[in-house]
Amino acid sequence: MNKKPKKSPPVPPQTNFVKILHGLIIISLFIMIGSGLQIYNATPVFGGKGGWSFPKWATLGGWLAGGRNWHFAAMWVFAFTLLIYGIYIFLTKRWKRKFVSEQDLKALKVGQNPKRRTYAWHRIIYTGIIPVLLLSIASGLAMYKPAQLHWLAGLFINWQILRTVHFLTVPISLLFILFHVVMGIRAGGLSLTRSMFQP
Ligand code: HEM
Repeated sequence: MNKKPKKSPPVPPQTNFVKILHGLIIISLFIMIGSGLQIYNATPVFGGKGGWSFPKWATLGGWLAGGRNWHFAAMWVFAFTLLIYGIYIFLTKRWKRKFVSEQDLKALKVGQNPKRRTYAWHRIIYTGIIPVLLLSIASGLAMYKPAQLHWLAGLFINWQILRTVHFLTVPISLLFILFHVVMGIRAGGLSLTRSMFQP
């Protein structure tokens, strides 16, 4: 008997523009994390000097000033890439099609199709990364220019809470990235993941 070859799930086409923005966000985010952890180690948020710190391999910059240089250089790439991406999804109406929608929530609530449910989770995860990244920018800007942006810094009540919120965007974004990779593979196999990186 002839067995039909197994069909791989359809892969949505990605424009090169989106692939470049996606790559730039990944690279700059990891520079922000490594240099941020270097800054953290100078005076740990948890426990102050001599408090809980990170191993050298997880940091970037070698010392406080080196970490700050990397952080403040990469923040422009990181923030502007997200801004350009925001403008792009707005102008192309991509936000209507590509992000979590009522259909996804319906699929999770009443849907019986396991593939559709996995796909809904995949969309929830990657949509959820965006507010976390925006929070890292808002809290970072409040620390960068606390005098000029005192209204923004004031939203975080005090400096310790501001530092803690900014720091927490590291583990939260790493968790989101991990789930994003896993759900991407579960929803569309390796071909979906590859479609975001291959030219
Ligand atoms: C445009 C975006 C960002 C700006 C403007 C910004 C700005 C800052 C500033 C001003 C500091 C304190 C520097 C110092 O005390 O010398 C800092 C620390 C830090 N940043 Fe960012 N940052 C941004 C994005 C990020 C991102 C995306 C991450 C990682 C997800 C991150 C992780 C950290 C960490 C871990 C610290 C050390 C926290 C502490 O010890 O207080 N930052 N950032």
